[in-house]
Amino acid sequence: MCGIVAYIGPKDATPFLLEGLARLEYRGYDSAGVAVAGRTGGIKVRKVKGRVADLAAAVPVRFKGGTGIGHTRWATHGVPSDANAHPHQDNAERIAVVHNGIIENADELRARLTAEGAVFRSETDTEVLAHLIAAHATEGVELEEAVRAALGKVVGTYGIAVLDAEQPDRIVVARNGSPIVLGIGEKEMFAASDVSALVRYTRQVVHLEDGELATVRADGFRTFTEDARTTHRQPSTVDWEIDSYDTGGYEHFLLKEIHEQPGSVERTLSGRLDERFATAHLGGLNLDARELREIRRVKILGCGSAYYAGEMGAQLIEELARIPAHSEPASEFRYRNPVIEADTLYIAVSQSGETYDTLAAVQEVKRKGGRVLGVVNTVGSAIARECDGGIYLHAGPEISVASTKAFTSTVIAFALLALHFGRIHDLSPADGRRIVAALKALPDQIREVLAQSDAIAGLAAEYADSEGMMFIGRVRGYPVAREGAQKLKEISYVHAEAYPASELKHGPLALISPELPTVALVPDDELLDKNLTTLGEIKARSGRVLAVAHRAPEAKLADHCILVPKSEPELDPLLLNIPLQLLAYHAAVALKRDVDKPRNLAKSVTVE
Ligand code: AGP
Repeated sequence: MCGIVAYIGPKDATPFLLEGLARLEYRGYDSAGVAVAGRTGGIKVRKVKGRVADLAAAVPVRFKGGTGIGHTRWATHGVPSDANAHPHQDNAERIAVVHNGIIENADELRARLTAEGAVFRSETDTEVLAHLIAAHATEGVELEEAVRAALGKVVGTYGIAVLDAEQPDRIVVARNGSPIVLGIGEKEMFAASDVSALVRYTRQVVHLEDGELATVRADGFRTFTEDARTTHRQPSTVDWEIDSYDTGGYEHFLLKEIHEQPGSVERTLSGRLDERFATAHLGGLNLDARELREIRRVKILGCGSAYYAGEMGAQLIEELARIPAHSEPASEFRYRNPVIEADTLYIAVSQSGETYDTLAAVQEVKRKGGRVLGVVNTVGSAIARECDGGIYLHAGPEISVASTKAFTSTVIAFALLALHFGRIHDLSPADGRRIVAALKALPDQIREVLAQSDAIAGLAAEYADSEGMMFIGRVRGYPVAREGAQKLKEISYVHAEAYPASELKHGPLALISPELPTVALVPDDELLDKNLTTLGEIKARSGRVLAVAHRAPEAKLADHCILVPKSEPELDPLLLNIPLQLLAYHAAVALKRDVDKPRNLAKSVTVE
């Protein structure tokens, strides 16, 4: 949830640190800080409550040093404040630490260190690390040894970078549950929690494994385990384009990512459709047709929008493969001592591949002997590595906190999986061909929806000042309603509630009034008449209706309508969702919200 950067080399670290933090700010943005080992000795630290821009304004011109670390924070222990911002230091100000993750035994360590004379200046768990490392950094001890010894006393998750005023020729980094990636430059080295901070400087990277540390010097690095065994890591090349990390002329990352969807959908589909056998090829499943035939149930696990995408995925699997499928919040599943069945396939969904609750759910399934596939966007991420196989989305980096293109690509991945499953079971070749053709048509159909952005902006301005909004959909439309409501509340802060259209008259109809408009998903499918009846019931209670439909309902049933091209019924939810992304985006803009960095949130939720 926090962002970490580090630099060591012949240049001044500060410009890289500040630029890298700006690129990582989507991971957390309530405070930020940098530390450099000054050329004249000692460590200089600047940290502020607020954004990276506030930090940049607070850093003096003479804040220079060839070795430095930086951090952008999403508060877990202690409020956002200057004191709680990272880096944290020991009392002698010899050690500086930035940290992503949670130290679970921080209270116990804090009490012990306090008894030994440490004076704590923040409420954070991270400060424990600074004092603990300093306590081990006695005369003649190398920094990596001090860090290793300190981490041996720590319970919890961490990605850390450590600077030592007395050994400024190195930075020590370590990973356990929170990512750390090294970047290899020309006589300079970088480290970060995410490649997005590095791609302007190098494409050669090394992802640390959990339980691994590295000593990083200007001319190279050495990796080793917590028990001091040297590891040998080969660099890999980052293939995402640099412009994926810029807004590329759009006002916000979110708008850019919404508009990237025709291309990201093409990438998710690329090389995976087989027209001859009317199926999909998914090389990474690591399950052959015989093993797949033995699966009796599918359980999908994810959080937030990943969970809603999983609901659409479950629907696709049930419809195309006729295998019972269900999506559940990973954050709930992991705590309820779930029954793990041998003939159930578990599928973890995550854009970041870092979401702690989802990772913990995967580990719980695996610990009990279950088989887990991942539907993940970030290659090599913790969840991807923990799974037995899976499908990469190839949606490209998603920077805006609200998920859009990754959501859509997740549904596409499920459509491919459902098609593959279906064709192993009883889905006919004709139905397989119908789905293949519909998938191929999606990018152009998405373009058609995106072309309505200005009109949707007009509608968003009209509805944005409502006291709240109801989103309704039936069966396939219900996950669309849930995701639409989630997007609106997440970035516009307008209260939004999603209900199955069929459930409205069992309670929430009491809420309907002109002040609480309804966004209704009205696909032209076998449930059209039922949906139109529901619209009539809302209008009869003076409710305003914005329909998202294939055919405009009669004027007496809907005040406004956004028309969406028709796909095959199984894939319609995916297209019906796109205008809701634009509606949320334009409502947030109309309300002058911080669209890419909504309050209280962060992109990757790496805490419980
Ligand atoms: C999506 O708009 C949200 N920001 C959030 O619900 C997100 O989908 C969730 O936290 C899961 O993230 P993940 O896909 O990276 O695991």
